[in-house]
Amino acid sequence: ERVEWSSEDAGKGGYDHYMLKEIHSQPDALTDTLSGRVNPGDGGVAFESLPDGAFADVEQVRLVACGTSYHASLAGARLLRQAGIPAHAELASEFSLPESADDTLAVAVTQSGETADTLGAVRAAADAGAQTLAVTNVVGSTAARECDDALFIRAGPEIGVAATKTFTSQVATLSLLSRRIAADVGADAPGDAGILDGLDALPGDVRDVTTGDAARAIANRYRGSDAYFFIGRGAAHSVALEGALKFKEITYEHAEGFAAGELKHGPLALVTPDTPVFAIFTGDGDEQTLTNVEEVQSRGAPVVAVAPDGHPAVDVADDHLPIPDTVPTCASLLAAVQLQLLSYHAAELLDRAIDKPRNLAKSVTVQ
Ligand code: G6P
Repeated sequence: ERVEWSSEDAGKGGYDHYMLKEIHSQPDALTDTLSGRVNPGDGGVAFESLPDGAFADVEQVRLVACGTSYHASLAGARLLRQAGIPAHAELASEFSLPESADDTLAVAVTQSGETADTLGAVRAAADAGAQTLAVTNVVGSTAARECDDALFIRAGPEIGVAATKTFTSQVATLSLLSRRIAADVGADAPGDAGILDGLDALPGDVRDVTTGDAARAIANRYRGSDAYFFIGRGAAHSVALEGALKFKEITYEHAEGFAAGELKHGPLALVTPDTPVFAIFTGDGDEQTLTNVEEVQSRGAPVVAVAPDGHPAVDVADDHLPIPDTVPTCASLLAAVQLQLLSYHAAELLDRAIDKPRNLAKSVTVQ
């Protein structure tokens, strides 16, 4: 397919940084990502270049990716498993396969389509007989050309080194892909109930988050902390990892993301009154995450609940980053957007080089 990128798309459009522009462009990017791909009648998913039944022989899925795309892949693998398809996300630099993998679909999730580790992993998968698919933003990229098929996330050009809109568009694309693979193989697991309605409302819900001002105030309140921790379970786990990655990339502050249930197996030793904990609630295992919140509060750490208004966590927590109430996968993306804004404002207060953080590159073409 042809994706038109105008020169206006490539400017800052009145924002101080590309990153802020790209955060705010997510409602439009997501609208493009989803446009024309879901049949409103039967909820079937159609991808322009992929004929029906393209995934009919797939018995398992391995998603390979790096950085933010790996976090999107974790969400995608979870959605596939919920749809009844065995699936795993793997760091491309650690990828390995059995010698014969002809029952496998290897999905290279890569914004640029040029990341060397990801290309290496998907080439190895092809050598082992796997069917290959690129999920990428760049038409004509190496991944799009080399894989058997390509699926474009249609997020438009992303200039900021820290990925923002491509993360939400990747997860939205992978949620459609999981439905499509499940339909092709005849899996009848329930999947994430209500996901289509949630995706339909997602662009508007994201706009509600980007027009709010809570993230800036929270960034200011917790400035100068020793470290910043992010916890989530289920749909929120990948977003806890992504929230921490974003924070460390552009603020240069120490940030870590954990599965909420893993806190007690080590990370709790790091928790003090000077380490704010951002706890993400998406309606997926929230009661247990609330228990984890109590564990960190009893060590004196302030807790910021990323949760809908009226959620029980809001009363328990010290602060609140609000998200609209929706299905877990969509709620996790809304939390991701709040945490992008948090990182942006924290980096701005520290006067960091937000669009070009030190030591990092937009696309890493060496292994
Ligand atoms: C670099 C970028 C990250 C990105 C990663 C993977 O490290 O700084 O933002 O997530 O590469 O890039 P890809 O283009 O494969 O998604």
